[in-house]
Amino acid sequence: MPPFFKKKTKPIQPVEPERLPRHIGVIMDGNGRWAKNRGLPRQAGHVYGAKVFRTITKYCEKIGINYVTFYAFSTENWKRPQQEIDAIMDLLRDYLKESLRDFKKENIRTLFIGERSALAPDIRELMEEAEASTAHKDGMVLNIALNYGGRDELVHAVRSLAEDVKAGRLSPDDIDEERIGRRLYTAGQPDPDLILRPSGEYRLSNFLTWQSAYSEYVFQDILWPDYRTEDLDAALAEYARRNRRFGGI
Ligand code: FPP
Repeated sequence: MPPFFKKKTKPIQPVEPERLPRHIGVIMDGNGRWAKNRGLPRQAGHVYGAKVFRTITKYCEKIGINYVTFYAFSTENWKRPQQEIDAIMDLLRDYLKESLRDFKKENIRTLFIGERSALAPDIRELMEEAEASTAHKDGMVLNIALNYGGRDELVHAVRSLAEDVKAGRLSPDDIDEERIGRRLYTAGQPDPDLILRPSGEYRLSNFLTWQSAYSEYVFQDILWPDYRTEDLDAALAEYARRNRRFGGI
Protein backbone atom coordinates (compact mmCIF):
# COMPACT_ATOMS: atom_id res chain seq x y z
CA MET A 1 0.00 0.00 0.00
CA PRO A 2 1.35 3.50 -0.76
CA PRO A 3 2.17 5.77 2.20
CA PHE A 4 -0.93 7.51 3.60
CA PHE A 5 0.46 10.92 2.72
CA LYS A 6 3.02 11.76 0.08
CA LYS A 7 6.52 12.54 1.36
CA LYS A 8 7.61 16.17 1.22
CA THR A 9 9.44 17.12 -1.95
CA LYS A 10 12.56 19.31 -2.17
CA PRO A 11 11.77 23.04 -1.74
CA ILE A 12 11.61 25.01 -4.98
CA GLN A 13 13.10 28.47 -5.51
CA PRO A 14 10.21 30.94 -4.98
CA VAL A 15 8.97 32.72 -8.11
CA GLU A 16 9.47 36.52 -8.21
CA PRO A 17 6.12 38.26 -7.50
CA GLU A 18 5.95 39.78 -11.01
CA ARG A 19 6.11 36.28 -12.55
CA LEU A 20 3.22 34.95 -10.46
CA PRO A 21 -0.21 34.42 -12.07
CA ARG A 22 -2.89 36.88 -10.97
CA HIS A 23 -5.61 34.27 -11.19
CA ILE A 24 -5.25 30.51 -10.69
CA GLY A 25 -7.99 27.97 -11.46
CA VAL A 26 -7.81 24.61 -9.70
CA ILE A 27 -9.56 21.38 -10.69
CA MET A 28 -9.44 19.39 -7.45
CA ASP A 29 -9.32 15.93 -9.01
CA GLY A 30 -8.36 12.49 -7.75
CA ASN A 31 -10.17 12.33 -4.41
CA GLY A 32 -12.00 9.12 -5.31
CA ARG A 33 -8.87 7.32 -6.54
CA TRP A 34 -6.92 8.46 -3.49
CA ALA A 35 -9.54 6.89 -1.22
CA LYS A 36 -9.80 3.72 -3.32
CA ASN A 37 -6.01 3.24 -3.17
CA ARG A 38 -6.36 3.14 0.61
CA GLY A 39 -9.41 0.90 0.72
CA LEU A 40 -11.50 3.83 1.99
CA PRO A 41 -14.92 5.04 0.78
CA ARG A 42 -14.77 7.77 -1.90
CA GLN A 43 -16.14 10.26 0.62
CA ALA A 44 -12.93 9.96 2.65
CA GLY A 45 -11.05 11.29 -0.36
CA HIS A 46 -13.29 14.36 -0.40
CA VAL A 47 -12.67 14.90 3.33
CA TYR A 48 -8.91 15.05 2.72
CA GLY A 49 -9.51 17.02 -0.47
CA ALA A 50 -11.38 19.67 1.52
CA LYS A 51 -8.43 19.96 3.94
CA VAL A 52 -6.04 20.45 1.02
CA PHE A 53 -8.41 23.06 -0.43
CA ARG A 54 -8.07 25.07 2.81
CA THR A 55 -4.27 24.73 2.88
CA ILE A 56 -3.83 25.77 -0.74
CA THR A 57 -6.27 28.71 -0.35
CA LYS A 58 -4.28 30.06 2.61
CA TYR A 59 -1.01 29.51 0.79
CA CYS A 60 -2.25 31.37 -2.32
CA GLU A 61 -3.15 34.34 -0.14
CA LYS A 62 0.20 34.21 1.65
CA ILE A 63 2.25 34.31 -1.55
CA GLY A 64 0.19 37.14 -3.10
CA ILE A 65 -2.16 35.50 -5.60
CA ASN A 66 -5.07 37.88 -6.35
CA TYR A 67 -7.75 35.41 -7.47
CA VAL A 68 -8.12 31.67 -7.07
CA THR A 69 -11.03 29.59 -8.38
CA PHE A 70 -11.63 26.04 -7.12
CA TYR A 71 -13.87 23.59 -8.95
CA ALA A 72 -15.82 22.04 -6.06
CA PHE A 73 -18.92 20.63 -7.80
CA SER A 74 -19.78 20.62 -11.48
CA THR A 75 -23.15 20.63 -13.23
CA GLU A 76 -22.28 17.02 -14.19
CA ASN A 77 -21.43 15.85 -10.66
CA TRP A 78 -25.14 15.28 -9.92
CA LYS A 79 -24.68 11.98 -11.81
CA ARG A 80 -22.74 10.59 -8.83
CA PRO A 81 -24.34 8.34 -6.19
CA GLN A 82 -26.56 10.35 -3.83
CA GLN A 83 -24.42 9.29 -0.85
CA GLU A 84 -21.35 10.91 -2.42
CA ILE A 85 -23.24 14.09 -3.37
CA ASP A 86 -24.54 14.36 0.21
CA ALA A 87 -21.02 13.91 1.57
CA ILE A 88 -19.64 16.71 -0.64
CA MET A 89 -22.54 19.01 0.35
CA ASP A 90 -21.92 18.22 4.04
CA LEU A 91 -18.26 19.14 3.60
CA LEU A 92 -19.32 22.42 2.09
CA ARG A 93 -21.69 23.08 4.99
CA ASP A 94 -18.90 22.34 7.49
CA TYR A 95 -16.44 24.49 5.60
CA LEU A 96 -18.85 27.43 5.35
CA LYS A 97 -19.85 27.25 9.03
CA GLU A 98 -16.23 27.06 10.10
CA SER A 99 -15.20 29.84 7.71
CA LEU A 100 -17.93 32.14 8.98
CA ARG A 101 -16.11 31.97 12.34
CA ASP A 102 -12.63 32.27 10.80
CA PHE A 103 -13.21 34.96 8.16
CA LYS A 104 -12.07 37.71 10.53
CA LYS A 105 -8.55 36.28 10.57
CA GLU A 106 -8.12 36.34 6.80
CA ASN A 107 -8.23 39.03 4.16
CA ILE A 108 -10.02 36.81 1.64
CA ARG A 109 -13.20 37.70 -0.22
CA THR A 110 -15.31 34.59 -0.87
CA LEU A 111 -17.57 34.36 -3.91
CA PHE A 112 -19.48 31.48 -5.47
CA ILE A 113 -19.86 30.82 -9.15
CA GLY A 114 -22.44 28.46 -10.62
CA GLU A 115 -26.20 27.93 -10.69
CA ARG A 116 -27.46 28.22 -7.12
CA SER A 117 -31.13 27.32 -7.55
CA ALA A 118 -30.43 23.55 -7.50
CA LEU A 119 -28.58 23.74 -4.16
CA ALA A 120 -30.19 23.13 -0.76
CA PRO A 121 -31.67 26.31 0.79
CA ASP A 122 -29.45 26.13 3.90
CA ILE A 123 -26.32 25.89 1.73
CA ARG A 124 -27.49 28.86 -0.32
CA GLU A 125 -28.01 30.81 2.86
CA LEU A 126 -24.52 29.96 4.11
CA MET A 127 -23.08 30.96 0.73
CA GLU A 128 -24.84 34.33 0.90
CA GLU A 129 -23.61 34.85 4.47
CA ALA A 130 -20.05 34.00 3.42
CA GLU A 131 -20.23 36.46 0.54
CA ALA A 132 -21.78 39.21 2.64
CA SER A 133 -19.38 38.87 5.54
CA THR A 134 -16.31 38.98 3.28
CA ALA A 135 -17.58 41.60 0.80
CA HIS A 136 -15.40 44.31 2.35
CA LYS A 137 -12.15 42.29 2.19
CA ASP A 138 -9.62 43.69 -0.23
CA GLY A 139 -7.15 40.80 -0.24
CA MET A 140 -7.40 37.69 -2.41
CA VAL A 141 -10.68 36.73 -4.09
CA LEU A 142 -11.63 33.08 -3.56
CA ASN A 143 -14.17 31.78 -6.07
CA ILE A 144 -15.76 28.45 -5.24
CA ALA A 145 -17.38 26.88 -8.30
CA LEU A 146 -20.50 25.05 -7.11
CA ASN A 147 -22.97 23.49 -9.52
CA TYR A 148 -20.80 25.21 -12.09
CA GLY A 149 -20.47 24.32 -15.76
CA GLY A 150 -18.74 26.48 -18.34
CA ARG A 151 -21.38 25.68 -20.96
CA ASP A 152 -24.21 26.32 -18.51
CA GLU A 153 -22.62 29.69 -17.70
CA LEU A 154 -22.61 30.56 -21.40
CA VAL A 155 -26.25 29.50 -21.74
CA HIS A 156 -27.12 31.91 -18.90
CA ALA A 157 -25.13 34.71 -20.52
CA VAL A 158 -26.72 34.16 -23.94
CA ARG A 159 -30.20 34.05 -22.42
CA SER A 160 -29.69 37.30 -20.57
CA LEU A 161 -28.35 39.01 -23.72
CA ALA A 162 -31.28 37.63 -25.73
CA GLU A 163 -33.71 39.07 -23.17
CA ASP A 164 -32.12 42.50 -23.56
CA VAL A 165 -32.34 42.23 -27.35
CA LYS A 166 -35.99 41.15 -27.13
CA ALA A 167 -36.78 44.09 -24.85
CA GLY A 168 -35.07 46.46 -27.25
CA ARG A 169 -32.32 47.39 -24.76
CA LEU A 170 -29.53 45.91 -26.87
CA SER A 171 -28.83 45.54 -30.56
CA PRO A 172 -27.36 42.18 -31.76
CA ASP A 173 -24.54 44.17 -33.37
CA ASP A 174 -23.47 45.41 -29.96
CA ILE A 175 -22.83 41.91 -28.62
CA ASP A 176 -19.09 41.56 -28.27
CA GLU A 177 -16.60 39.65 -26.12
CA GLU A 178 -16.64 42.27 -23.40
CA ARG A 179 -20.43 42.22 -23.12
CA ILE A 180 -20.46 38.42 -22.94
CA GLY A 181 -17.72 38.52 -20.27
CA ARG A 182 -19.87 40.89 -18.21
CA ARG A 183 -22.72 38.35 -18.10
CA LEU A 184 -20.54 35.54 -16.74
CA TYR A 185 -20.33 34.57 -13.07
CA THR A 186 -16.77 35.90 -13.07
CA ALA A 187 -17.75 39.35 -14.39
CA GLY A 188 -15.19 41.97 -13.46
CA GLN A 189 -12.47 39.43 -12.69
CA PRO A 190 -9.38 38.76 -14.78
CA ASP A 191 -9.30 35.51 -16.75
CA PRO A 192 -7.32 32.69 -15.15
CA ASP A 193 -3.65 32.87 -16.13
CA LEU A 194 -2.95 29.37 -14.90
CA ILE A 195 -5.19 26.32 -14.60
CA LEU A 196 -3.99 23.41 -12.50
CA ARG A 197 -5.26 19.91 -12.88
CA PRO A 198 -3.72 17.30 -10.65
CA SER A 199 -4.52 13.56 -10.78
CA GLY A 200 -2.99 12.75 -14.15
CA GLU A 201 -6.08 13.64 -16.24
CA TYR A 202 -5.58 15.95 -19.21
CA ARG A 203 -8.88 17.70 -19.74
CA LEU A 204 -10.75 20.84 -18.75
CA SER A 205 -14.08 19.18 -17.83
CA ASN A 206 -16.31 22.21 -18.50
CA PHE A 207 -14.28 24.48 -16.16
CA LEU A 208 -14.08 28.19 -17.04
CA THR A 209 -14.74 27.41 -20.70
CA TRP A 210 -14.89 31.01 -21.90
CA GLN A 211 -12.36 32.44 -19.46
CA SER A 212 -9.64 29.85 -20.16
CA ALA A 213 -9.15 30.77 -23.84
CA TYR A 214 -5.57 31.91 -23.14
CA SER A 215 -4.83 30.17 -19.86
CA GLU A 216 -1.67 28.21 -19.30
CA TYR A 217 -2.26 24.63 -18.12
CA VAL A 218 -0.16 22.66 -15.70
CA PHE A 219 -1.15 19.01 -15.34
CA GLN A 220 0.39 17.20 -12.39
CA ASP A 221 0.40 13.51 -11.70
CA ILE A 222 -0.65 13.90 -8.06
CA LEU A 223 -4.01 13.03 -6.55
CA TRP A 224 -5.63 16.12 -4.96
CA PRO A 225 -5.56 14.87 -1.33
CA ASP A 226 -1.77 14.43 -1.77
CA TYR A 227 -1.33 17.94 -3.20
CA ARG A 228 1.10 20.02 -1.12
CA THR A 229 2.21 23.65 -1.19
CA GLU A 230 5.47 22.36 -2.74
CA ASP A 231 3.44 21.04 -5.69
CA LEU A 232 1.91 24.46 -6.16
CA ASP A 233 5.41 25.98 -6.01
CA ALA A 234 6.46 23.57 -8.77
CA ALA A 235 3.45 24.56 -10.91
CA LEU A 236 4.19 28.25 -10.35
CA ALA A 237 7.82 27.74 -11.34
CA GLU A 238 6.64 25.99 -14.51
CA TYR A 239 4.21 28.84 -15.24
CA ALA A 240 6.96 31.43 -14.71
CA ARG A 241 9.04 29.70 -17.43
CA ARG A 242 6.22 29.93 -20.01
CA ASN A 243 6.22 32.56 -22.71
CA ARG A 244 2.65 33.82 -23.11
CA ARG A 245 2.01 35.37 -26.50
CA PHE A 246 -1.82 35.64 -26.64
CA GLY A 247 -1.76 35.01 -30.38
CA GLY A 248 1.04 37.52 -31.00
CA ILE A 249 4.68 36.69 -31.62
C1 FPP B 1 -13.04 15.39 -7.98
O1 FPP B 1 -12.42 14.18 -7.59
C2 FPP B 1 -13.57 16.07 -6.80
C3 FPP B 1 -14.86 16.46 -6.62
C4 FPP B 1 -15.91 16.24 -7.64
C5 FPP B 1 -15.32 17.09 -5.35
C6 FPP B 1 -14.39 18.13 -4.79
C7 FPP B 1 -14.89 18.49 -3.47
C8 FPP B 1 -14.13 18.71 -2.38
C9 FPP B 1 -12.66 18.70 -2.39
C10 FPP B 1 -14.76 18.93 -1.04
C11 FPP B 1 -15.68 20.09 -0.88
C12 FPP B 1 -15.12 21.40 -1.24
C13 FPP B 1 -15.01 22.48 -0.45
C14 FPP B 1 -14.80 23.77 -1.13
C15 FPP B 1 -15.05 22.46 1.02
P1 FPP B 1 -13.06 12.78 -8.05
O2 FPP B 1 -14.03 12.37 -7.01
O3 FPP B 1 -13.62 12.93 -9.42
O4 FPP B 1 -11.82 11.85 -8.04
P2 FPP B 1 -11.59 10.56 -9.00
O5 FPP B 1 -11.40 11.11 -10.39
O6 FPP B 1 -10.34 9.97 -8.45
O7 FPP B 1 -12.79 9.69 -8.84
